[in-house]
Amino acid sequence: MKNILIVLLGAALAVVLGLYAYMYLGMYNMGADSPHWRMTVSMLTMMRERSIEMHAAEVVVPSNLDDPAVILKGAGQYAAMCTGCHLAPGIADSEIRPGLYPRPPNLSKVRVDPREAFWVIKHGIKMSAMPAWGFSHDDATIWTMVAFLRKLPGMTPTEYRDIVAKAPPDDDMGPMDRDMPMGDHASAAASPTHRP
Ligand code: HEC
Repeated sequence: MKNILIVLLGAALAVVLGLYAYMYLGMYNMGADSPHWRMTVSMLTMMRERSIEMHAAEVVVPSNLDDPAVILKGAGQYAAMCTGCHLAPGIADSEIRPGLYPRPPNLSKVRVDPREAFWVIKHGIKMSAMPAWGFSHDDATIWTMVAFLRKLPGMTPTEYRDIVAKAPPDDDMGPMDRDMPMGDHASAAASPTHRP
């Protein structure tokens, strides 16, 4: 009995040491162009979906998501910050998107659950390109993005262009950044017409 225990402990130790050596020796390919095994993908997918479901369950959805002013503000936010990765009607690809792993969903085709979308936008998703926008945006602004995402699938390229043209400017950025899909805050701060 005692011998079996020692053998089992030894085997467990060998596995842990082997895994550690594999990681420490740099044998794992961290490249974004080297896909995971299918088993790893299904484990990560399960973990991500369950995590978002559990964490989003507590989120309280505000009652103004159908307010046209809220949707309009969300359109401006989306056009300024999200299309490079998530595309839009009339925007079929971008330079950054093909190289992202995991590939961001095309949000002009996918319907999202408002609670889960809010949670993901605010907190981001670890080890993916999805940022935690909660560091730079308050909850009310994030809800405008969710309100817009509810309308986005099914919009035509013309409807999309019109709503973005009417949207109030994204007040976190200078006007120079408005036309760029992923304007950065540093150049907005440097622009003389930037409003605080
Ligand atoms: C640099 C790329 C990038 C940018 C910019 C980005 N996202 Fe994402 N986003 C991702 C990736 C990648 C995922 C998927 C992560 C995964 O599957 O693990 C994602 C996932 C999401 C999801 C979850 C979708 C689903 O079906 O579960 C939502 C909602 C979302 N993003 C909204 C936004 C919004 C709104 C913005 C703009 C404020 C934004 N994202 C900007 C990369 C990005």
